[in-house]
Amino acid sequence: MIGRLNHVAIAVPDLEAAIKIYGSGLGALVSIVQKLPEHGVRIAFIELSNTKIELMEPLGDDSPIGNFIKNNPFGGIHHICYEVEDIKAACSQCIENGMRLAGGGLIKNGAHGRPIVFLHPKDFCGTLIELEQA
Ligand code: CO
Repeated sequence: MIGRLNHVAIAVPDLEAAIKIYGSGLGALVSIVQKLPEHGVRIAFIELSNTKIELMEPLGDDSPIGNFIKNNPFGGIHHICYEVEDIKAACSQCIENGMRLAGGGLIKNGAHGRPIVFLHPKDFCGTLIELEQA
């Protein structure tokens, strides 16, 4: 069921500084900045030829990445996003295989307006996994 790598997400303490590093520093194409209050983040995408890097800065006091930044003050890799054709079928397959969905398994609309869900890092080699319906 697992498809292409959609993006690698890096949590950062300062989005504008991170954009500068990738934009003028590495010459990468940077998307516009989006505020996603529902996800408690402000993000920008670095567009690479084969995938994207999602830069995420905490938004609001109860941001889900607030603690991550406290523990990793310089930022760090937060999650990896794989594409799936059918997100509900993918969730069922994970559950059937004894894997846990994170955040109560709630399917939300992600940054690209497509359905996403998170899988529990304890069941995926210590890495938070996002599935996005392609
Ligand atoms: Co993501």
